[in-house]
Amino acid sequence: MGFVALEALGEGRVLAADVHDINGRLLLSKGQVIAAKHLRVLKIWGVTEVDVAGSSTDDAVGQTAVDPEKLSAVAAAVTEMFKQLDMDHNTIAYLHECAVIQRYTSGLIPPNRCVPKEPTPVPDGFDFQEIHRQMTRDGIKLPEAPTIVLKLNEIIADPHTTANDVAQIVGTSPSLTALILRIVNSAAFGLPTRVDRISRAVALLGTREISALAMGVSVMKAFMEIPRDCIDMEAFLRHSLASATITRYLAALSNSSQTEQLFIAGLLHDIGKLILLKYFPVEMKTLFQATWADEEQCPFYLVERKAIGRTHAQLAGMLLKKWKFPETLQDMVVNHHRPARAVHPRETVLVQMADLIVNAVGFGTSGERVVPSFDTSIWDQVGIAGSSIKMAIRQGEQQLRAMESLFSAKGLGA
Ligand SMILES: [Fe+2]
Ligand SMILES: [Fe+2]
Repeated sequence: MGFVALEALGEGRVLAADVHDINGRLLLSKGQVIAAKHLRVLKIWGVTEVDVAGSSTDDAVGQTAVDPEKLSAVAAAVTEMFKQLDMDHNTIAYLHECAVIQRYTSGLIPPNRCVPKEPTPVPDGFDFQEIHRQMTRDGIKLPEAPTIVLKLNEIIADPHTTANDVAQIVGTSPSLTALILRIVNSAAFGLPTRVDRISRAVALLGTREISALAMGVSVMKAFMEIPRDCIDMEAFLRHSLASATITRYLAALSNSSQTEQLFIAGLLHDIGKLILLKYFPVEMKTLFQATWADEEQCPFYLVERKAIGRTHAQLAGMLLKKWKFPETLQDMVVNHHRPARAVHPRETVLVQMADLIVNAVGFGTSGERVVPSFDTSIWDQVGIAGSSIKMAIRQGEQQLRAMESLFSAKGLGA
């Protein structure tokens, strides 16, 4: 089996997997023989490709001669990244398989770093605890919320908000308008027609969805000025956007009513790393290096906790609280590495799973060396089939392709 673009899909092909729209609604079932009417349904609902049996575009591993040495090198490197995970768990084992195939076909052999390759020497008398002391003594002086975020907050709280109200606020920033239109027109949102106005996007997706999207993107924009020698922002944006798209997809599959909040939680889950980089660039650079040199290969949040007593997840929570983001969103971001402590663990675990997938297949990076640990017991309660991982990866890939030109320092710039 393999994915076939809708334009290349002829009648008579057999679906190898269920086809859902972006909201998780079942459009066609596995085993369905494609007829002309099915092609119309798929087109109307914005489906761009489907998984079909006996495809001539099977996974590249199956269609071209496999280089056994390269394949085993990729598998060994991926296995090394999965050290923190329970490989006996079905979904984890399937994700491992998908990651090997994805990385083999894309030539992306792990690890992929977004931090400088040259080791940063630790200065004499250097003490990570100083970060902690500064934070607790002086409090970290987080930036004030941009005006646009405050206005969007008001709009979300007002039940009488109209599409024009949202369009007016977002319209004050042409770059934000262009970015949002680009995001909602990408395959991940599956709109049946192309949208060229914010008010139309609001009419189709809802006030909350577009306002939340605008707020999330505004937060990312506020932290774009991190020095490039500290972190590869392009890779960081890919990691964030792919996580957002995949979280949203998983949210739709689990019938969550909070797809827009989960998209933003995925987008902003690692924003705490940018806060730390903004205030403590030298220390963070050293911390990233420490992660890569760590023999135990701990996930970054554990390295942070050991070194500075706080994690990027907690810092992100402080920012989102100050900027008055909804409490459920704050909670999901704060607990994205430990969903069991979240108020809504079954939704928070979707953010954790998206982060896991994105790290495993290498859609950008936020500085992790390994795939972070994962709470399989909560994931099992959600009831999403492990096989959905494959489609989630496709969703992330499509979103990144649609946004390609934005992955530059100017992409999210003012
Ligand atoms: Fe994280
Ligand atoms: Fe992450």
